[in-house]
Amino acid sequence: MTQRQTKKGFLLTFEGGEGAGKSTQIRALVQWFKQHHIPFEVTRQPGGSALGKGLRRLVLSTKTKNLSSRAELLLYEADRAQHVHEQVGPALQTRKVVVSDRFADSSTVYQGICRNLGVDWTEELNRFATSGLEPDLTIVLDVPVETGRERLKKRRGLDRIEREKADFHRNVRNGFLRLARRAPHRIKIVNGTNPKSEVTKEILRHLEPKLRRKGFRI
Ligand code: TMP
Repeated sequence: MTQRQTKKGFLLTFEGGEGAGKSTQIRALVQWFKQHHIPFEVTRQPGGSALGKGLRRLVLSTKTKNLSSRAELLLYEADRAQHVHEQVGPALQTRKVVVSDRFADSSTVYQGICRNLGVDWTEELNRFATSGLEPDLTIVLDVPVETGRERLKKRRGLDRIEREKADFHRNVRNGFLRLARRAPHRIKIVNGTNPKSEVTKEILRHLEPKLRRKGFRI
C-alpha cells in the first residue's frame, strides 16, 4: 500500500506523555465528528489490530522482564506495520478520518530518544513499518510530568513503561517538544493542563482548516 493510495482520508494522531488526557480528548472529538456527520474511526498503537492486542499485552506487561530496547522497538514496529495494513490504510481509502491514539512519533520519542536507539534509526524503521504513511496532523498534549503522574495514580496498576523513573518521563516530554519544533506544520503542541473544553477548542482550531483543505465539509 503506497502513501498515495491511502491518502484519500485524513490521519490524525494523538501523542504525549502518560496521563496527558488523550483518551478524554479523543472522546470529545468523536462527539464532534458525529455532530458534523464526518465518517471516522478511532484506533490506537499499540493494540489497534488483532495481532497488536497480543503485542500490546506483551510489551506493556510488567511480567516481561529484561526486554532489550531493540526488541522493544521492533515489537512496536510490528504492531505499527500490522495496524497500518489492517486498519489505518483501509479506513483512509474509504475517506474516513482516522484518529490514532499514538503512532510513529511515539517510537521516535520513547525508543529513539529515551532508550537512546537514535532518532534516525527509529524513523527509518517507522517509514518501513508504515510504508511511508505520515499523519496529516499530530496533536501533542503537553502536561508537566508531575501532572501526568498524579492523573495516573487514579488508575489501577501501572504498566511497564508507566513505571519508568521521572527522568524518563521528563525526556519523553522534551522529546515530543523537540519533534514539534522540527515539524511545526504537522505537529501541534496543545497545553493539556487547560480545562477540557478549552483543550478541545484548541485542537479543533488546528483540525478544522486542515480537514477543509482536504475536502471534508464541516
Ligand atoms: P498508551 O497507554 O498511551 O496507549 O501507550 C502505551 C505505552 O507504550 C506508552 O507508555 C507509550 C509506549 N509506546 C512506546 O514506547 N513506543 C511506541 O511506539 C508506542 C506506540 C507506545
